[in-house]
Amino acid sequence: MSDSHLHPVKPEWTKNALIDNETYLDWYKQSIDDPEAFWGQHGKRIDWFKPYSKVKNTDFSNGVSIKWFEDGVTNVAYNCIDRHLEKRGDQVALIWEADDPSKDKKITYRQLHDAVSRLGNVLREAGVKKGDRVTIYMPMIPEATYVMLACARIGAIHSVVFGGFSPDSLAGRIADCGSGVVITADEGLRGGKPIPLKANADRAIEIAKGQGFNVQTLLVVKHTGGQVRWVDGRDVWYHEATEKVSAECEPEQMNAEDPLFILYTSGSTGKPKGVLHTTGGYLVYASMTHQYVFDYHEGDIYWCTADVGWVTGHSYIVYGPLANGATTLIFEGVPNYPSPSRFWEVIDKHKVNIFYTAPTALRALMGAGNEHVAKTDRSSLRILGSVGEPINPEAWEWYFKVVGEERCPIVDTWWQTETGGILITPLPGATDLKAGSATRPFFGVKPELVDGDGKVLEGPTDGNLCIADSWPGQMRTVYGDHERFVQTYFSTYAGKYFTGDGCRRDEDGYYWITGRVDDVLNVSGHRMGTAEIESALVAHPKVSEAAVVGYPHDLKGQGIYCYVTLMAGEEWSDTLHKELVAHVRSEIGPIAAPDKIQFAPGLPKTRSGKIMRRILRKIAEDDYSALGDTSTLADPAVVDDLIANRQNRK
Ligand code: WTA
Repeated sequence: MSDSHLHPVKPEWTKNALIDNETYLDWYKQSIDDPEAFWGQHGKRIDWFKPYSKVKNTDFSNGVSIKWFEDGVTNVAYNCIDRHLEKRGDQVALIWEADDPSKDKKITYRQLHDAVSRLGNVLREAGVKKGDRVTIYMPMIPEATYVMLACARIGAIHSVVFGGFSPDSLAGRIADCGSGVVITADEGLRGGKPIPLKANADRAIEIAKGQGFNVQTLLVVKHTGGQVRWVDGRDVWYHEATEKVSAECEPEQMNAEDPLFILYTSGSTGKPKGVLHTTGGYLVYASMTHQYVFDYHEGDIYWCTADVGWVTGHSYIVYGPLANGATTLIFEGVPNYPSPSRFWEVIDKHKVNIFYTAPTALRALMGAGNEHVAKTDRSSLRILGSVGEPINPEAWEWYFKVVGEERCPIVDTWWQTETGGILITPLPGATDLKAGSATRPFFGVKPELVDGDGKVLEGPTDGNLCIADSWPGQMRTVYGDHERFVQTYFSTYAGKYFTGDGCRRDEDGYYWITGRVDDVLNVSGHRMGTAEIESALVAHPKVSEAAVVGYPHDLKGQGIYCYVTLMAGEEWSDTLHKELVAHVRSEIGPIAAPDKIQFAPGLPKTRSGKIMRRILRKIAEDDYSALGDTSTLADPAVVDDLIANRQNRK
């Protein structure tokens, strides 16, 4: 990496920073040398009803068992709300910026306490008990955070499903975790367009019923006032139910290792897995990373543009910031509505100090032209963050120079749904920045690069990224399938957590994430399994076989490229192409819509029948120079045919 992309810490970044480089090095060493002592001390950043006496009890071998603060008792909602009331009851907890730029709302900690307590009582009256699952399918409105916190308050396990998923996907997730209560809104609104959430939820509940699972209660927030179908005895209006109950709701006593939430995420094989996070360690880690990575100071206005349907929304819109007593902004809309100035206008309107977004949004806004940024002020900004996919140095430099006017450090934060919080990241007052690098590990995180045989590599090198020991925010299991947890993350390299990412470490010990090394795609920062898209395609009656790979895409990072073989007698046509795109949208959701489909009379397979994706990736990239050895293919001629017929792609 050339020095032009090196940005040393500026003196003004260190001046009031919580952590300077010396402190970083000192704390990091302590955290690795004696994790018990380090986390024993930092675990006290949250309030415990009963203090823990044990800190770390983790084993990455022997069936994998991960426990932190295991005999401590606490409650996440209590920590995110109640404990702040005395000091900051009237401080704004949430700023809601609607899709419509003329609408917004501010909610204080006291109001948050009221809303969450009432909702907790509504859920309790609906029969929800500690340990029960509740599915949340909501737009980005304040009620989305109320319902998450209400579940945490009464000890119910929430499963938030992103509003861009189809009824089929929602049904699968409702049934998998056995969620008797679902919470939604009449409609969502994005870029002026309504999203039929209630209608999708109705359909999903029907599908789940067909699979033998019955939802008893559908709680509905009236948001747009759009028309909805109503099922008496099952459907309940949120505003009516919350009016009738008391605003006193005792928080449940939760053991540190009691589950807090399930979040479904895609892997390289099979159906999405329910990533399970628990109470104490997760909150300690989410709040600590939020504070230090964003150099959060009292009174800062903090904005993360993610959706609560993803882990970033869980840890860095809701739990981390609120545990720290911050003012967190939630945004209903999209970056380019009503114009590509929207982000910067919202920053000016609410005087945002810390701004956290995704590379895909930055690339799109960069393409829209600097004038949309230049006409705004942005002088409130102090820290910029990036998450979700590798940020290319061009987008990084644009973010730094045009958006931040070289005043604001950028924290490029690498982490995963599974990790619960940020693992590799700069700290604003401590870390010299290199555009495109996530830089150094956070406290307590021990990255290792290993080769294909699991040998740990030292010094500057490329390798597969593993984490050698546990940190408190780590997922504990796959909901209902611990064996899958062990197989997916701890069997590739025995005794280590394998991330699925490739990575380079440079001569300064900085980490550069190079992207997934498994069959997972990252499309606009959304994680998707190729296997899921393939199974959606082959569910279409005219498709006999499908193989899906990623290819480089200017805006999305990766695009979805599908090779499709048709049933005998079926003809490839524009109509069929459209039908297949629509089919995937309805099976999984609009976020999984194929970018390109190529009709393929045959797929390159080994003699044992395994599809050689490496070759398909090369053809999708139009790179025929390095197809590698094709002699092991059952029928090498298939490859020539795929190259010759690539005009068949649409
Ligand atoms: C990728 C999102 C490079 C990575 C928090 C990871 C990144 C996957 C970065 C997890 C980053 C996330 N630089 N790549 N700063 N952040 N990724 O579970 O491939 O939706 O494995 O969690 O996103 O995606 P997930």
